Amino acid sequence: MATTGSLISLDDVYRARERIGDRLHRTPLLRSGTLSEQVGAEVRFKAELFQRTGSFKPRGVLNKLATLTDEEKQRGVISISAGNHAQAVAYASASQGIDALVVMWQTASPMKIAAAREYGATIDTEAADIPTAFERLEELVESTGRTLVHPYDDPYVMAGQGTVGLEILEDVPEADIVLVQVGGGGLISGIATAVKGLRPEARVIAVEPERSPALHASLEAGEPVTVEAESIADGLNGPYAGANCVRVCTELGVESVLVTVVVLSAVAPTAIAERWFLPDAEREWRIDRRLAYAESEEYV
Ligand SMILES: Cc1ncc(COP(=O)(O)O)c(C=O)c1O
Repeated sequence: MATTGSLISLDDVYRARERIGDRLHRTPLLRSGTLSEQVGAEVRFKAELFQRTGSFKPRGVLNKLATLTDEEKQRGVISISAGNHAQAVAYASASQGIDALVVMWQTASPMKIAAAREYGATIDTEAADIPTAFERLEELVESTGRTLVHPYDDPYVMAGQGTVGLEILEDVPEADIVLVQVGGGGLISGIATAVKGLRPEARVIAVEPERSPALHASLEAGEPVTVEAESIADGLNGPYAGANCVRVCTELGVESVLVTVVVLSAVAPTAIAERWFLPDAEREWRIDRRLAYAESEEYV
């Protein structure tokens, strides 16, 4: 890993890209004409929904798996996830003949649970909710001897996610602001390392749901803080930001904003993707969650 003072360096991100090789897609950076006009600046979206397994997650997982010894690979890997990391762990592990076990929870997306199983992982849904799932993960790491592929607080995972940042700046070298949605902080740590390494004057801003503000609270406190993570954006519900992630984001001067459910719901690309791609059962699950959420927020 990094030989300078930081936990991960720009070189680590380049090394991650070499390890990943051509196993993943180079996703497009799509311009939104409507948003660019509304905001008064060029707005683009890095379309990682078109990445293998449907998110950026296999970038970090492939980089991590490449560092395991043969013996570790034989013992298998373990992780925890709301669903996207689970699919990435399942997919990447299967591609290398590694056995994967992922802890999820009973209220997680049924489509993501099914997809991770189809990729070949064992999915454990004993836990009723996220905090219990994290406790269960600790027990299972201990009892199984599997190697933990942490969803965000692992330098190799962070460096792998940083390849998103390399691609953004290669496509738009003059980018002034990079906004990154945050759960536990792995994606933004990697992207900030790449972006600040290549263009120090660019701003990197963490965007978190008001109801899942782990990194925001941690940056304010100067140390990792545990929060109640109950946002409608299920992939962003990290109960705590990673200690490594907090450290990297602090060192690199990452800024942070919180957004309300109203803003989250207004994100048009997600809505469009849902309309086009989601099976009925998954769409219904999401609508139910939104209704419950709206009632609890007194928005109805
Ligand atoms: C689509 C998506 N975006 C962002 C995140 C947050 O990533 P991190 O936990 O590295 O901050 C996740 C995490 O699962 C995700 O699935």
